[in-house]
Amino acid sequence: MRLAGKIAIITGAGSGFGEGIATRFAEEGAKVIVADIDEVAAKRVARAIGGTAVRADVTSGIEVAAMVAAATESYGGLDILVNNAGMPQRAGPADEVDEAMFDRIFDVNVKGLYFGIVHAVPVLKKRGGGVIISTASTAAVRPRPGLAWYAASKGAVVTATKSLALELAPHRIRVNAINPVAGDTPMLKEFMGDGEAIRRQFIASIPLGRLSTPRDIANAALYLASDEASLVTGICMEVDGGRCV
Ligand SMILES: NC(=O)c1ccc[n+]([C@@H]2O[C@H](COP(=O)([O-])OP(=O)(O)OC[C@H]3O[C@@H](n4cnc5c(N)ncnc54)[C@H](O)[C@@H]3O)[C@@H](O)[C@H]2O)c1
Repeated sequence: MRLAGKIAIITGAGSGFGEGIATRFAEEGAKVIVADIDEVAAKRVARAIGGTAVRADVTSGIEVAAMVAAATESYGGLDILVNNAGMPQRAGPADEVDEAMFDRIFDVNVKGLYFGIVHAVPVLKKRGGGVIISTASTAAVRPRPGLAWYAASKGAVVTATKSLALELAPHRIRVNAINPVAGDTPMLKEFMGDGEAIRRQFIASIPLGRLSTPRDIANAALYLASDEASLVTGICMEVDGGRCV
């Protein structure tokens, strides 16, 4: 059991990568808070893995504070925060993204991380250490045309991760990110539509020849969350079949 006795919050855990991470962490002995803006989805996943569901919109400071408090109330503390909830951009020209969509992308992807830090770090400091992991994207480090604002938001997550790693190291809080390549989750059609041709073309650009799965991302998160990674901080790990090389 690689996370025996650890208490973890995973945001956006009602679907896709977050569900995969929640499931994998529970398999390895963690007590998991399954947080999602979609309460029905959070409850479904929590039931399946024996965790606790919390409805939390990561763009709300009040709801993120309540989410962090739920970890202490349910399990007595917090060891791991996974900032995974994300907002995609429908592929298209940067100048056609309206202000409301731009704001939503940055609110969920960047402000969501900010609120996670503001509310979880004091708890982790008091506990004497912990782990923060964010789901960024290969779009942050190898942006392609058509996803400019999404890529920029994930770039902010990558830069914040490195900066936070340095700042929080004296408190024994490790801060890392994962950069998944396109993954087979409900979010994928937002990025590439439903077309089979575009999907095949994208897969052809991945040297290992397939999209990522929730299990791939969960295995990376498990390593970063575990004591096996006790000297690893400030990295943004590509899980991308070689696409970013
Ligand atoms: N799927 C991909 O191709 C891909 C690639 C790289 C990175 N990512 C990133 O991975 C993360 C997970 O995405 P996914 O592919 O699993 O998507 P998904 O759509 O399957 O799951 C996203 C979950 O986040 C929840 N969510 C959305 N807004 C929220 C909010 N404001 N507060 C709390 N929860 C919220 C949704 O309800 C959903 O359950 C995101 O950060 C995404 O940007 C996805």
